[in-house]
Amino acid sequence: MNHFVYKDDNLFCEDVPIANIVEQVGTPFYLYSHATITRHFRVFEGAFNDFDHLTCFSVKSNSNLAILRIFALHGGGADIVSGGELFRALRAGIPPDKIFYSGVGKTPEEMKLALKSNIRMFNVESEQELQTLNKIANNMGCKATIAIRINPEVETNTHPYISTGHSENKFGISLEDALNTYESARQLENIDVKGISCHIGSQLTDIDPFLNALRKLKDILKELKKMAFDITFLNLGGGLGITYDDEKPPHPLEYAMALKKVLGKENITLILEPGRVIIGNAGILITQVLYTKSTKNKNFIIVDAGMNDLIRPTLYNSFHAIQPVKMIHSEMVVADLVGPVCETGDFFVKDRKMPPFKSGDLVAIMSAGAYSFSMASNYNSRPRPAEVMVKEKLFSIIRSRETYDDLIHGEVIPEFL
Ligand code: LLP
Repeated sequence: MNHFVYKDDNLFCEDVPIANIVEQVGTPFYLYSHATITRHFRVFEGAFNDFDHLTCFSVKSNSNLAILRIFALHGGGADIVSGGELFRALRAGIPPDKIFYSGVGKTPEEMKLALKSNIRMFNVESEQELQTLNKIANNMGCKATIAIRINPEVETNTHPYISTGHSENKFGISLEDALNTYESARQLENIDVKGISCHIGSQLTDIDPFLNALRKLKDILKELKKMAFDITFLNLGGGLGITYDDEKPPHPLEYAMALKKVLGKENITLILEPGRVIIGNAGILITQVLYTKSTKNKNFIIVDAGMNDLIRPTLYNSFHAIQPVKMIHSEMVVADLVGPVCETGDFFVKDRKMPPFKSGDLVAIMSAGAYSFSMASNYNSRPRPAEVMVKEKLFSIIRSRETYDDLIHGEVIPEFL
């Protein structure tokens, strides 16, 4: 069920007219539907019901505390990639034993914090990282539980910036080096080897790459068993795609069934790290038209949100549907929807048919729940937008709009000036 729907020409989020939120919050702001988030999480969870598994929401896709709290309340864990994400996950109430830490560049300080917090597992991505982690755990008098992240070298059909499982990508350890790395991990006194992991890319709309990766991980698992390793966790990462435009990604249930078939009867806990599939279509960006202008061959609609608020179209040429907050019953026009930032790359939509928006109209940029606010910046000294969550008839600001003072937080003009 879609929770962003029109009633009498007005776009609602659940039971709240979006225009009412604008009156109180101003624009631009991100808007999330609580019902959508919980439904997506439950559907994903439900799909894996008969697996021993743990769903760890990928914090990088959306790291707002209120959103993370929803997953904490539903028994979810967290996939993190930095000390900051660890801080957020713990603050939101996600238990440390449900936190899994990936990333090719974990710093010693981050490792210390994670060990001190008793997270469940590190997904180690290089031999040097392994050595550093061992040393730090040794200094702290504890053991680090780890999985080795494998780069399974599978083909994925997604934007090259978000594909991670090819041999030319920086992520994980190659198939050839995998067993040696496991062996050297075993020699380290403060390392406890418990898992195998991978993450092959994001916005994948086809099941095959996941199955190919799982097969390769299973092959390694078989070897590891022969070598008497006790591997109890298999982490498949995230990556399941969503519909932005006309993509037809598999339903989580279809995904789960297919994985189960390949996995067979392994005595293992499956870790899943979905981000986009849970939150992508649970959030939208609301912006207001400032001006319109036409040049010889273009119509421009200039809105008050910019690439600093939502960089995906600029960075990945990604598609986001555009909807009016109040339905416009006139013929569509072909236009570019652009922001106020001083870059030609500051666009949301190029040459697409859309309603003939006018100054003052409110525009909803759809499918902006994942990698949207979390990738926002202050470029052009623009305060980052507010975030709002709706639950049935209620709405609440879950992050206030930044102020000018926030912009200069921590900046110092030195004495010698
Ligand atoms: N696990 C790991 C280790 C990851 O690196 C990622 C995403 C995920 C899980 C979650 O993947 P998801 O289920 O959301 O596909 N900024 C890009 C996406 C980058 C994804 C990075 N890694 C975008 O806006 O499309």
